[in-house]
Amino acid sequence: MANLSLREHTSGQLDRLCRAAGASDIRRTAGVLLGELLGAAGESNLLGPAEWSSSISDDKTPIEFSVAYDVTGERAVRLLGEAVCASTAREFLDNMASRLNLYTGKLDAVQDLFLPERPSGDFVLWYSMIFRSGSPPVFKVYLNPHARGAENSSDLVAEALGRLGMRNVHKAVVDHALTRGDKDTFSFFALDLNRTPKSRVKLYVSHESAETDDVERAAALVPGINPMQIREFCAVLGGGKGPFVHRPLISSYSFVEGDTATPSNYSLYLPVRDYVPDDEVARARLVAVMAQYNMDTAELDRSLRAVTARPLRDGVGLIPHVSLRLGAVGSGITVYLSSEAFSVTPPRQRPVLGLVS
Ligand code: TRP
Repeated sequence: MANLSLREHTSGQLDRLCRAAGASDIRRTAGVLLGELLGAAGESNLLGPAEWSSSISDDKTPIEFSVAYDVTGERAVRLLGEAVCASTAREFLDNMASRLNLYTGKLDAVQDLFLPERPSGDFVLWYSMIFRSGSPPVFKVYLNPHARGAENSSDLVAEALGRLGMRNVHKAVVDHALTRGDKDTFSFFALDLNRTPKSRVKLYVSHESAETDDVERAAALVPGINPMQIREFCAVLGGGKGPFVHRPLISSYSFVEGDTATPSNYSLYLPVRDYVPDDEVARARLVAVMAQYNMDTAELDRSLRAVTARPLRDGVGLIPHVSLRLGAVGSGITVYLSSEAFSVTPPRQRPVLGLVS
């Protein structure tokens, strides 16, 4: 690893990603916000071990990038992060809220549910910042439905939805996405921190050992989705119809103003790094998916080069997830990109072509 600080390493990556996505105008703002989010952790040297633990990425970097490619041609560069050095869960948010005019009304209404004195689960509060050329940054928070134990996660989500005036949503989601007992669980509860008709409440469900049929059923809650697109995405990117027995497939539903039972959007997240030997194979599969929808794969390559200079086949996990977004508030593909600030996961053996001996 390089003799750089975490802030130097990640801000260089973010700066190049913004340029690759044609969003040079927001580079400065993005860099400042990244620095604020990292806080004191930004000064840690990458030659030493990480002094905290974050589940955001495999090597404990508390930051993960993503690039959202929309079918309209719109782009967003996004940053998922955890304020690992903050002294309270909301410290970073409270600093940002007044500066950036964030709306925290929905979060204020539910946060006591998700922030008990001794939370369980592998995170408490994550942030996402979304950068688009020509617009101010948009913030999102992720809360943990497991904060009061996995066994209480569905009740916790039901209570939170009730407080937001969305009581009916819970049953609709349970009926479509939580049909396999303990194998389907609510994994994130996310809120946009702005106040527009398109501001979202997002519910995420993890599907342990799921097959394509299971996520097709989950997707069917959103009217008009073509199940073939879900099936092909799993086949091309994940290499088959499952069961996906390593990290789980994840569904998310986006509810915007007026969505009282039926969500406007469905997204499927596939943890591609568990289903490929190395990142060269991950890229090849992703290129096949993007090409099928007429998306510019040269831009994907610029984004990959923005975060790493290493040969893609020398590791696995630069592309941890890919998601397929379908629905009325925007369809597209989102590519998650690891910072790999502290370490690179070694590649696995590629299979040998030929007969099974
Ligand atoms: N690292 C965790 C995981 O892989 C959480 C996470 C980070 C995640 N970014 C994500 C989950 C994007 C789904 C999609 O599960």
